[in-house]
Order: sequence, then structure tokens, then C-alpha cells
Amino acid sequence: MELCSITGLRGKISVPGDKSVSHRCVMFGSIARGTTEIHRFLEGADCLATIRCFRTLGIDIEEKEDTVTVHGKGLHGLSAPEHILDVGNSGTTTRLLSGILAGQPFESKISGDESLNARPMKRIIEPLSQMGANISSILRNGCAPLYITPGELHGIHYDSPVASAQVKSCILLAGLYAEGETSVTEPSLSRNHTELMLKEFGADIRSVYALDSTKATAVITPGNELYGQKVTVPGDISSAAYFIAAGLIVPDSEILIENVGINPTRAGILKVCEDMGGDITLLNERVEGGEKIADILVRTSRLHGTVIQGDIIPTLIDEIPVIAVMAAVAEGTTIIRDAAELKVKETDRIETICDNLAAMGCKVTPAADGMVITGGKLKGAAIHTLLDHRIAMAFSIAALTAEGNTKILDSQCVEVSYPTFYDTFEELL
Ligand code: S3P
Repeated sequence: MELCSITGLRGKISVPGDKSVSHRCVMFGSIARGTTEIHRFLEGADCLATIRCFRTLGIDIEEKEDTVTVHGKGLHGLSAPEHILDVGNSGTTTRLLSGILAGQPFESKISGDESLNARPMKRIIEPLSQMGANISSILRNGCAPLYITPGELHGIHYDSPVASAQVKSCILLAGLYAEGETSVTEPSLSRNHTELMLKEFGADIRSVYALDSTKATAVITPGNELYGQKVTVPGDISSAAYFIAAGLIVPDSEILIENVGINPTRAGILKVCEDMGGDITLLNERVEGGEKIADILVRTSRLHGTVIQGDIIPTLIDEIPVIAVMAAVAEGTTIIRDAAELKVKETDRIETICDNLAAMGCKVTPAADGMVITGGKLKGAAIHTLLDHRIAMAFSIAALTAEGNTKILDSQCVEVSYPTFYDTFEELL
């Protein structure tokens, strides 16, 4: 994809359904009794991998445009897979599915693409093993392919060293199949879609907040059956983030993004934009299926640098590539700290962000847990996405204000989370 600078992005758009929520509806629907009807399901490659895996586990799932119907078979209704479960590029599928499979009376294997098979899985192997699960890394390198055989699970309390919704959700899902209560405390609160949605499906799950409301413990007590639900997936704030950034940095722009999920555990980018001087208004705020939703109005603004660190990091972790792009064209310096988790995403995002920003002429210094960016004028370059969808989309936004042409290499990787990304652009021209 080749892009150049523009002005005047104007119009009303909506973004596809939330990736985290889409994965969870299929998973929870599969282990619930009865039918789960999912509207505005994200048909990105990651969520389609989740559908593929549950079909391989014997679940009948129908797809009609963006409506997906899952014919759940209850907590104990999955059947042994006849072949290895292929999770593609999806860390969420791998880690949440492992929690469910740890509680099954059959054996299974999970594997993904090159990037997925390089991501750390010890973070789930350890707590699951503490619960009595039999799960191992086939190559003994702490990564997928994973091999899971039946184990007698018992509840544990897990003090997680990382704020990771995938780790938390994996343990809670295994907790559905364990003897006794399971609880997970995280160093700061990560996205809580699992807690909200499992409750809607009928699970006995609660969150207990520390007084400062940043540290949270999620507690699940097994025993309840889950029941199929009708779910409308909110627009993905991680996808909206690219158009929020575009609206702020492209001159003479005004964009209304409708139906975006603004769950506080996901909406850190809104606070950062405000701190940078961005003109953003939330309209029509409401709650659907336990999730907060709003329309987001964005207008071109003069952005300035900021410091992003501490408990806000998990609430914007996937948006850091595009936040870094905003910082690169803002006035002054932006410091990002406490974000070492970026190193274990689809790529080492500290490296991919810094290398590509530097290629565009930005002054940027990587750190072990973040980066320091000095804003200025960008120039067009060849962007090496390394097949990371969020790098492709973030740098497509950078291209819109850069001098000269920018080439996004392997831009088709946007299909992982936002197959129609470049089409949404057309609507704003
Ligand atoms: C996700 C959790 C986050 C996020 C990922 C989706 C989820 O990962 O980066 O895109 O749906 O639970 P971690 O839990 O590894 O932080």
C-alpha cells in the first residue's frame, strides 16, 4: 500500500466489532447451553481462527455476513479434535482456549504462525500447572506448539506478575472446570471483558477492587451452567484509535466514529489524547450487554507531548503504535514507560515502532520498557510491518502527514483485526 499526505478527512464512520469481545462470545457460546447469537462479529483473521478451533472441537457455528450463531453444547460438550488446533496469529485464541482445554477429558495440541509460536506461553503454563493441568511446550522453549492432556483441576489464588487479560482469562476459564474457587490478582487492571461477559452467560464471577481501584482480583466459583446469549459486539476502540489519531493530526478534519466500546479498561487512549490537547467529544453514551458505548467526535488539534506510564498502560497497550505516531507529529517530547509488554506482542513493538519512526526521520530513543519521542515533521519511507497488523495501520496514519510517499510493506496483514481498514479511509475522503 502506497500513501501520501492529505487534508480534510470528514465524515461519519463505524469500525468493526471489538476483537476481544468477538473471541469471547464464540468461546463462551460454545461452552454454554443453547444458542448464542452474535451481531457485528469481527470477521478478522484472529476471530475466524477462534471459530475454526471450536468447529474442530465439535461445535456447530453458522456465519451469515456479520452475524454468527453458535450452537453451544454446555460446559462438557466439546469433543476431541481430530487434528492440531490452528490459532494462526492469535494470542487471545491460544491463551483463552488453553484454559478451556486444560479442563477437558481429551488431549489436544495448539499451534500458530511463526510470530505466535515465538510468543511466551510460560505465563499460562505455570498457573495452569499449579491448578493441576497437564500442559507443556512441545519444543520445551516455553512457546507454542502446546500439548494438553487431561488433568484434575483445583482452584488456586494466582498473583499474576503481569497485567494481562489473556493470562487472567485463561486461569478463570480453567476455573470453570476446577474443584473450588479460583482467583487472579493483577498488578494493574487489564481489560475485563471476560468478567463482564461470563457473568452475562450465568457464571458465578465477581471482581473485588482494592481501595485505590487499580488492583483488582477476579474470583470465579464453578458450578453454574452457562446459557447462550444474544450479543451485539461494540465497535473496537483499538480500531477506532487509527481514525481518532487521523482526525487529530490531519489538517481540517472532523470525524464521527459511531458505536465504539469505551469500557474504562480499554479507553486509556481517550485520556492520552486529552492530555495531548486533542479535541475529542463523547456523544450518546450508553451501556449495552454490560459494556459502555459512545460515539466519538474528533477534530483536528494542535497536539503536544505527554508522559504515559503506570496503571494506564494496560488500558491502551494495543494503541501504543498509533499513540507513538501522534507523539511523532506533536510539539515537544512524549515519554512512554512501564510498557515492557510491548516486546511480546505480535512483534517486539518497541523495536518495530522505533525503527519505523526513525525511518520516517523522527527523533526516537527506545528503552527497555517504552520509548522517548520528540515530535516534528515526518518524511515518507518504506515501513517494515513484519506482518504486525497494528504497525501497518499506525504507520498508514503517519503517512497522512508525511512529506513524500510512504510504502506500507505487507499491508495485507491488517486482515488480522481490521480487514476493511483501507475501505473506511475511502469513506472519509
Ligand atoms: C487481549 C489482551 C491483550 C491485548 C490483545 C487482546 C484480550 O493482551 O494486547 O490484543 O483479548 O484479552 P495481553 O493479555 O497479553 O496483554
